Amino acid sequence: MAKIIAVTNQKGGVGKTTTAVNLASCLAYIGKKTLLIDCDPQGNSTSGVGADEQEHALSVYDCLADSGNTKNAVIKTKYINLYIIPSSADLSAAEIELAYEENREFFLKKSIAAIKDDFDFIIIDSPPSLGMITINILTAADSVLIPIQCEYYALEGVSQLIKTVKSIKKKLNPKIDIEGVLATMYDGRTNLSIQVLEEVKRFFPDKLYKTVIPRNIRLSEAPSFGEPIIKYDRTSKGASAYMALAKEVIDRNL
Ligand SMILES: Nc1ncnc2c1ncn2[C@@H]1O[C@H](COP(=O)(O)OP(=O)(O)OP(=O)(O)O)[C@@H](O)[C@H]1O
Ligand SMILES: [Mg+2]
Repeated sequence: MAKIIAVTNQKGGVGKTTTAVNLASCLAYIGKKTLLIDCDPQGNSTSGVGADEQEHALSVYDCLADSGNTKNAVIKTKYINLYIIPSSADLSAAEIELAYEENREFFLKKSIAAIKDDFDFIIIDSPPSLGMITINILTAADSVLIPIQCEYYALEGVSQLIKTVKSIKKKLNPKIDIEGVLATMYDGRTNLSIQVLEEVKRFFPDKLYKTVIPRNIRLSEAPSFGEPIIKYDRTSKGASAYMALAKEVIDRNL
């Protein structure tokens, strides 16, 4: 059965999508059969693996509407062992539509159940909010990986996220845990990055990954080519960092 990891932080632009795309592709590269689920209506994970040109593809929205669609919504990417359920713009409507449903927190969990046995890892990219889609993600996931950007206000909102995870654990998903906390966009030349990393370490002494993701221009270029970093530039610092993260994630799940 797959380990389902949600990449979540309601703060925008902290590296959720970059982490979801590149962690999923590195896990796949290492030989783990991996499914990326793009639960953000922005669809950046979908384009990040070059899966945005599939016409008439079923999307996460269709899976939420009818869990019978899930198996057919899984698309094989160009990359070995890497599969995706794409996002679509209509997913933003689900945020409101779900609010009127009974058992509204469980729609994603129900749709994933049909394919859980088919993968080693399922990585879910989240939107920058704590709305119904994120609640569905945290209800479906085994654990949550929190990317934190090494910038001003890095920890802003993180206590709210932890509170949300605790409340979901109590009411909706007793097994959810924090998978790990990942420092992103780290620039060792600036005092700010160094200080933020220290602060995050104090806040999450047991959960912070040893791997720190550096600020690396190649990581920001890769999405416009629809390529994960290990395809776009395998020799970049960004590629080595995400490969090290994937190994750390595997080690924590042995
Ligand atoms: N390590 C990095 N080095 C350089 N640029 C990065 C790095 N990580 C992410 N970026 C860039 O920063 C921007 C935000 O990253 P990303 O889209 O992954 O964040 P996000 O949390 O998914 O954002 P949103 O909340 O909008 O979904 C993007 O332009 C991305 O290419
Ligand atoms: Mg994103």
